[in-house]
Amino acid sequence: MINITAGNFQIILCAEQGRKLEMVHAGPVLSAPEEVIAHRPAVFPWLNKTDWAYPVWGGGTFHEPAAAFLFHDGQIGADFFYDSHRRTELEGGSLWEIRLKDSHYPLSLTLCYRTWENYSVIEQSVLLENGGEEDLGVKQLASGFVRLRGEGFHLTHLAGSWADENRLFEEKMDRGLRIFDSREGCRTTRHQNPAALVSRGDSSTEMAGEVFGFLLAWDGNWRLAFEMDDKGDLLAQGGMNPFMADEIVPGGGELRSPTLVMTWSGEGRGPISRQYHRWANDVKLASRECDVPVLLNSWEGAYFGVNGELIEQFIDDAAEIGVGMFVLDDGWFGSGEDARNSDKAGLGDWEVNGEKFPAGLRPLAKRAGEKGLKFGLWLEPEMVNPQSRLYRDHPDWIVNNPHHQPLTERFQLMLDLGNPEVEAYILKVLDGYLREIPEIGYIKWDCNRQVTSPGSARERRSQTAFYREYEEAFLRIIDRLRINHPHVLFQACASGGGRMNYGALERFHEFWTSDNTDPYQRIFIQWGTGLFYPSRCMASHVTASPNHQTGRETPLKYRFDVAMSGRLGLELQPSRMTEEERVFSKKAIREYGKIQPVLFNGDLYRLRSPYDSPLASLMYVSRDRKEAVLFAWLMKRLVGDSYAPVKLQGLDESFSYRVEEINPLPPKVDPSGIQLPRTLTFYDQILSGSYLCHFGVDFQFYTEYSSAVVYLKAE
Ligand code: GLA
Repeated sequence: MINITAGNFQIILCAEQGRKLEMVHAGPVLSAPEEVIAHRPAVFPWLNKTDWAYPVWGGGTFHEPAAAFLFHDGQIGADFFYDSHRRTELEGGSLWEIRLKDSHYPLSLTLCYRTWENYSVIEQSVLLENGGEEDLGVKQLASGFVRLRGEGFHLTHLAGSWADENRLFEEKMDRGLRIFDSREGCRTTRHQNPAALVSRGDSSTEMAGEVFGFLLAWDGNWRLAFEMDDKGDLLAQGGMNPFMADEIVPGGGELRSPTLVMTWSGEGRGPISRQYHRWANDVKLASRECDVPVLLNSWEGAYFGVNGELIEQFIDDAAEIGVGMFVLDDGWFGSGEDARNSDKAGLGDWEVNGEKFPAGLRPLAKRAGEKGLKFGLWLEPEMVNPQSRLYRDHPDWIVNNPHHQPLTERFQLMLDLGNPEVEAYILKVLDGYLREIPEIGYIKWDCNRQVTSPGSARERRSQTAFYREYEEAFLRIIDRLRINHPHVLFQACASGGGRMNYGALERFHEFWTSDNTDPYQRIFIQWGTGLFYPSRCMASHVTASPNHQTGRETPLKYRFDVAMSGRLGLELQPSRMTEEERVFSKKAIREYGKIQPVLFNGDLYRLRSPYDSPLASLMYVSRDRKEAVLFAWLMKRLVGDSYAPVKLQGLDESFSYRVEEINPLPPKVDPSGIQLPRTLTFYDQILSGSYLCHFGVDFQFYTEYSSAVVYLKAE
């Protein structure tokens, strides 16, 4: 028996020398695990068994296999048996390595289970070793696989599109195979996110139900597959997408998968998010030691119309408002007819536009530094416009079947990073800027299209290796940059939401959550995102009203109150704000400094969902429970609507908390002159955790797009 336990999550495998490895349990920690081995269902010789821990095609499964191979002799069936295992103690948990061997071919599979005790998280991955002399064709190699005994299942997942990322969807599982995946090559998380919840039995709520979390830490093409078999068991797996991605592993070679990260809760989906967030914040994220400052970005304030004079103004305004960084977005490069004055030209020509910035960028970066600001720069390194010098010089560098006409998207083509010359060029450009302008402290790495015609003029034995080679080169570039410039923060932008995965987040400090900055729709987008990703990586900007994506008009306070639940930024021209708005913004940014530590490291409790309540609310509680921040956003207002006070969670009921409203508005007076009660009835009072959790906070909202942010501190 192999008993893999992480906190309250357990996987039990039955391992006997020379037999197939079975998975007999995945779920809560059992007090007598040997019972499930002893009493596992009898195997009838006329029925197929489906309880393999890692089913390989040919080895007795007819369901979606975890792996499938094509041997040099043309055979397609493999047959792996348990060989040995070992456990190594590591910081925070253990690493189990279980070796399987094929009965004929000199092949081994090592199943790796990395446990994280404090977070109830198990990371699964696999290493394939070809010990023979011949090539091995790999059709499929999942990172991880689990079998869940059936009692009915519900699947919750995130899907969307541009400006509408990470909507929550839930469905009852039926017999058959359900696949979530991306074949986009890059920017792989806009339409589906590589993360899902499986509730066993009835649908789970925030606080009730048995729930499994699955997410894949991989930024390239990915796939999660859930299959309900003929017995009603659920076979779940995730890994790199095998679609058009056959690999050849030469004799003596190996192939390692990315990791599938799993967690479990017996008390609903709330703990799943908290377990993932803590694990991410403590051990996974690139940003865990450096918080990204509040920033001002030039995009929605200036679009392509940036120039030296305007940026000086932005920097001065940014300093005056109290943000910690200014980011120069698109529009600063390309020259002559290739100048980046719109999205039609310039990508690839990463030289500063001398007409717009006669003195270059360095003086601006220095000016920012003198005012106490970091300086950030936007680039879209993987792309090229046909209207650019780079494309004219290197038409063979693009991603495309060279026998066909390339298709543009947003007037641009992609560069094949898997081509070593391209990789070297991109690294040189980025590394060059970071050396020439050492004041740069942040790179917004954008990626505004996906692969539509995979492959390139670069010779490969088969272009099916294209996707992996591209992704590996991408990771090498960012890894090298981070080694050379450890103080620089990187944002994975990708049109918003396009690179939101834990593969990217090991390297990038944050992601751009969505190009949609309308606070109302952002509540939904951020709600879904927060299921798996912590607030510190969720860039969220206050922009002008009416909103540029939806046309919706909202008060500045509502925009701040929503953006402040992620990594706060501004994306507008401060010089267009009224004095009153500037004063409000300055104060809100200062206040954000107070709530940021709780928000970034605290535990998330979702209190009321925007999907089914006119008042959405969530809160973060510090791990010592001494501080909390509560957000409430009105989603819809009809006179007569009433909503019960919001009961808080996660507080210590024996503590007393001072309840302070952040960004308060002056008390309202109605048109007839009647003074209305304040938004927060407990304005600046001290209340017990017990009262707050059982009676809750009552909000008075009088108009649409009302909101509140409340800071609680134990006295
Ligand atoms: C993408 C990004 C935006 C902005 C523009 C610039 O759409 O998501 O934030 O940087 O590109 O072209």
